[in-house]
Amino acid sequence: MINVPIIKANGASIPQVGFGTMRQKGDAGAQIVKDAIDAGYRHIDTAANYGNEEDVGRGIKASGIARNDLFVVTKVWTTNLNEGVLQKSAEESLKKLGLDHVDLLLIHWPNPAVPMKESIGALCDTKKRGLTRHIGISNHTISMVEEAMAVTSEPIVCNQFEYHPHLDQSKIMATTKKHGMAFVAYCPIGRGDVGGVMAEPAIVEIAKAKGKTPAQVAIRWSIQQGNVVIPGSSKKERLVENASVFDFSLSDAEMKAISSLAKPSGGRVVNPPHAPKWD
Ligand SMILES: NC(=O)c1ccc[n+]([C@@H]2O[C@H](COP(=O)([O-])OP(=O)(O)OC[C@H]3O[C@@H](n4cnc5c(N)ncnc54)[C@H](OP(=O)(O)O)[C@@H]3O)[C@@H](O)[C@H]2O)c1
Repeated sequence: MINVPIIKANGASIPQVGFGTMRQKGDAGAQIVKDAIDAGYRHIDTAANYGNEEDVGRGIKASGIARNDLFVVTKVWTTNLNEGVLQKSAEESLKKLGLDHVDLLLIHWPNPAVPMKESIGALCDTKKRGLTRHIGISNHTISMVEEAMAVTSEPIVCNQFEYHPHLDQSKIMATTKKHGMAFVAYCPIGRGDVGGVMAEPAIVEIAKAKGKTPAQVAIRWSIQQGNVVIPGSSKKERLVENASVFDFSLSDAEMKAISSLAKPSGGRVVNPPHAPKWD
């Protein structure tokens, strides 16, 4: 059974490896969530927009795990950030998940049409009402992090962002951490074969030398920077693989070699039309 360290961030205790559930739906989705919990995952990441909160909830229930032993994260979609609408979205998420609270509720993407004071105010209200234990943001750029910090009445515990060896995120990572927030890396293996991260010769070489897989090396590189990572998989055998990254380390030279794989042109795999202007 995997055993994952905890990252402390502005009052939250977040298991450093979480299970990303974005594409896991239906009975298979519920089953892989249960499998992840059975394997030792204690942090589950979903979102209203993934359309799978009911399936995730079924997986959690089937696992039989004590509620207090699990860190459940969901997100409010970008069109639901107005006062009252955001709270309603949170309530609907809880109903679908079959939970009376989540551990962390995130604004999934910023929405420039809604003043930050309003959206963060509504997010704070969900915490005050006990719908979530902690609040956070995702895909918020440097100026947005600063603005969110200026208007919030509750601690913001994380900024969730795409991060893998093809994408330099040093600036947003520094801003996020300066405020005591966890930097939660999504797509930590660059979406598997899609992004090509795992085929990088430098990563393949390091993996061979350590007796690890390329996915483990990419995940370890982020973990070693103090990040939380939330890899996703539909395959049971990959659950343990992706979280077994605490029994080896990368040297400074190896860390640098992997960081140097960042593509000058960006290397993003997630860049939808509603994305902000990235730093
Ligand atoms: N906040 C946001 O805007 C945002 C955006 C995107 C994602 N996320 C979150 O981040 C999570 C992870 O992101 P992601 O799923 O897009 O990308 P990812 O975790 O980097 O990659 C997942 C892909 O890699 C494959 N894979 C997983 N483990 C592997 C391994 N050990 N070896 C080889 N291939 C492997 C998976 O295929 P198989 O299924 O075949 O294993 C899947 O296609 C999501 O589930 C979601 O919770 C958040």
